[in-house]
Amino acid sequence: MIWNSFEKIIEPDSPEAEMLARIDPQRIPRHVAVIMDGNGRWAAARSLPRIEGHRAGADSVKEITETSVRLGVHYLTLYAFSVENWKRPITEVNELMRLLRRYVREDLPTLMKHKIRLKALGRLHELDYKTRTLVEKAIHHSRDNTGLQLNIALNYGGRTELVDAMRALGRLCTDGGLKPEDIDESTIGRHLYTAGIPEPDLLIRTSGEYRISNFLLWQTAYTEFYFTPVLWPDFRKIHYFEAIIDFQQRERRYGGVKNV
Ligand code: IPE
Ligand code: IPE
Ligand code: MG
Repeated sequence: MIWNSFEKIIEPDSPEAEMLARIDPQRIPRHVAVIMDGNGRWAAARSLPRIEGHRAGADSVKEITETSVRLGVHYLTLYAFSVENWKRPITEVNELMRLLRRYVREDLPTLMKHKIRLKALGRLHELDYKTRTLVEKAIHHSRDNTGLQLNIALNYGGRTELVDAMRALGRLCTDGGLKPEDIDESTIGRHLYTAGIPEPDLLIRTSGEYRISNFLLWQTAYTEFYFTPVLWPDFRKIHYFEAIIDFQQRERRYGGVKNV
């Protein structure tokens, strides 16, 4: 069943086909999150400016999004810009925003073709007007699509998200009749940017860094982590397949014991 959806783009007997055959179609992660890291190092290795790495990274975004559609992943969450990334030189920040606008403008037809629903996670209102309105328009345009939900974490911070949720809950306690003792884990979950989205099953971080960098702190409590030295602009289907195969070999216990 999975093979059918890749038939036109993967050669039979290729290494990719071999990897694909090892994936259990019944156990595809429902939600995959990715910390797309290593663009700068990819560019530096080629004596190119950092922005060229970000540009090349956009191709990986396209390939991994399309592969997620073909695999039947329901939610794909990509970490595109963290609240800490404002610390970078203004020229790099501006270029990143420009690339994002270009991606949204140029790829909206492809997103629509694949029935992808776009969503943004983060403080969108702090972005410049041009970027914010373009992203909002694309979200609006794709809102009724029923295929993959693509969440772009944009001006996102896990702690910022918790601050925003706490503020909303605080307001509800003062003005909305919410009692503090009625706040439980699901109340908090409903006030995160990810309200209504199941927690990630698999989190992939590229570029050989072993840290969470303020990504989905609440939601990854029981997520399976997969780290790879591959730099994001080099990350292709075959690496994605490898991550899924690795994920499928894990035993998720959620604090319990095996086979109860
Ligand atoms: C990830 O690549 C992209 C963003 C954070 C926007 P980096 O730009 O962090 O690349 P490295 O980590 O410096 O190689
Ligand atoms: C995490 O990567 C943020 C994104 C991929 C958008 P960074 O490159 O910003 O993280 P650190 O600085 O290595 O922790
Ligand atoms: Mg980095």
